[in-house]
Amino acid sequence: MNSTLEQLKAKVEQALIAAFGNTMAGTDPMLVSASNPKFGDYQSNAAMSLTKQLGQSPRAIAQAIVQHLDITDICEPAVIAGPGFINFTVKPHYLESQLNSIQTEPCLGVLSAKHVQRVIVDFSSPNIAKEMHVGHLRSTIIGDCIARILEFRGHDVLRLNHVGDWGTQFGMLIAYLREVCPEALTLSNAIDLGDLVTFYRQAKQRFDTDEVFQETARQEVVKLQAGAKDTRHAWQLLCEQSRREFEVIYELLDIHLTERGESFYNPLLADVVKDLDESGLLVENAGAKCVFLEGFTNKEGEPLPLIVQKSDGGYNYATTDLAALRYRIEQDGAQRIIYVTDAGQANHFAQVFQVAQRAGWIPDTIKVVHVPFGLVLGEDGKKLKTRSGETVRLRDLLDEAIARFRTYLETRIAEENRNETEEFIAEVAQVAGISAVKYADLSQNRTSNYVFSYDKMLADKGNTAPYLLYAYARIQSISRKGNIDFANLGADAKILLQEETELVLAKHLLQLSEVLQKVEQDLLPNHLCLYLYDLSQKFNQFYEQCPVLKAEEAVRTSRLVLCDLTARTLKLGLSLLGIPVLERM
Ligand code: ARG
Repeated sequence: MNSTLEQLKAKVEQALIAAFGNTMAGTDPMLVSASNPKFGDYQSNAAMSLTKQLGQSPRAIAQAIVQHLDITDICEPAVIAGPGFINFTVKPHYLESQLNSIQTEPCLGVLSAKHVQRVIVDFSSPNIAKEMHVGHLRSTIIGDCIARILEFRGHDVLRLNHVGDWGTQFGMLIAYLREVCPEALTLSNAIDLGDLVTFYRQAKQRFDTDEVFQETARQEVVKLQAGAKDTRHAWQLLCEQSRREFEVIYELLDIHLTERGESFYNPLLADVVKDLDESGLLVENAGAKCVFLEGFTNKEGEPLPLIVQKSDGGYNYATTDLAALRYRIEQDGAQRIIYVTDAGQANHFAQVFQVAQRAGWIPDTIKVVHVPFGLVLGEDGKKLKTRSGETVRLRDLLDEAIARFRTYLETRIAEENRNETEEFIAEVAQVAGISAVKYADLSQNRTSNYVFSYDKMLADKGNTAPYLLYAYARIQSISRKGNIDFANLGADAKILLQEETELVLAKHLLQLSEVLQKVEQDLLPNHLCLYLYDLSQKFNQFYEQCPVLKAEEAVRTSRLVLCDLTARTLKLGLSLLGIPVLERM
């Protein structure tokens, strides 16, 4: 089934052709949701934009379009307003038949993408021997959501974890551990990530002050790159230790992705430099090999170089990303590549993309995008830190959200005189706590910074996960109260829309497909959050106005179907945000 928007677009285009001839084929009908519900549900702004091309006044064009519109199945007669807007109001009967048809579909009428693409989502990507920080948490949550939506639309998605598992820091760390904790390099369980982070810090300090140690560290890097057995083994152990910790977070958040770290591209780095040289882009500058960038200058206004090989022969973050980009296009067959990192890396990606473009490595048909996000701030408006000023451990942050929701839940249960098992309480607290953290992140426009507030994200009112989870559970309680099996309302259960709140809810239910298509384009999950929040509010208004269980047949069944469709839409929408529902909470 095509969304209402798509159908109306096609109708307006047909009308344009009928009114002004075949040259109008492919004209954008400029159809959008109405800016104000007073004017209807959708509007076309095409008449205004065609005045020059057609040499007529916008109102005359609008009239000609309306005369040729064939929309009786979908809308009331279109109305021209203002300078030449064409307003559309969908008919209740049309809404009823659309709802009846999506009711039997598990995907609720959401269209699959017309052109299925091979998409790579590069997200999460923490660094070995370092703690995963809130920036990685944002990348993980946003990246997972984007991947879920693209998968749901039918795309072939490869979720890649580009972990920082390579580089000179490993030489330093291994050299240091050989001295102070050699067992960490031979036994797989000797230290945990916390120790590793501390050792890393100490190693760095030593490196910065001790020249002899610097040399030892450098030799370890050489050995690592040459594939020396013991150094390799030590490096692998370090990676495994970090990986085990990352897994705990991924498990808690229900995140699945394929690890393909920086080290994977190591064998391809020399060719990146060689090929840049052959394409004439490479310049030697103070011993380093680099490409001078267009549009990036230093303070003196001179072009900035992107270094791809340092004077000591080492490669860097950018070289690896260039190799990865090529590999993803050539070997993985990616048609769209999405990088989810903090906005601070915007220049890095713009530079890497520019060099790859100029080297001719990105065919025109392939879209490469950086999806930036803002900082997570503490309630003091500064970068999120613990009270003692350290970076917040993600594990602690998630546990805190769970614990706080648990306290709230226990109070609520006591107030309502309910008797609940420990198992129930633990499960609800876990789901609601984690979901609250995810939702707080996703519901913001990702490009802005946001303040991390447990109180706000855990509130049972407002645009929060608990609010939506309660909305879902409340609908399920209707079915329990009325002893109704939503799954068996019968295929012939008919929707009848009479009350205003029913119409409003119905229209909203039919917009999921449009919203998902939008997120697929602009990669802003907050649209989906807002849609779900609006849906719960519209449902609540309907539920306040319209009796359900006490209504007469056939209105009763129709309203039960509306309840069921709302619940299923919430469940589906939340699942695309990586949030599971609770039948009861
Ligand atoms: N490891 C990097 C960091 O922690 C993120 C990597 C993002 N992906 C990429 N292809 N560069 O900042």
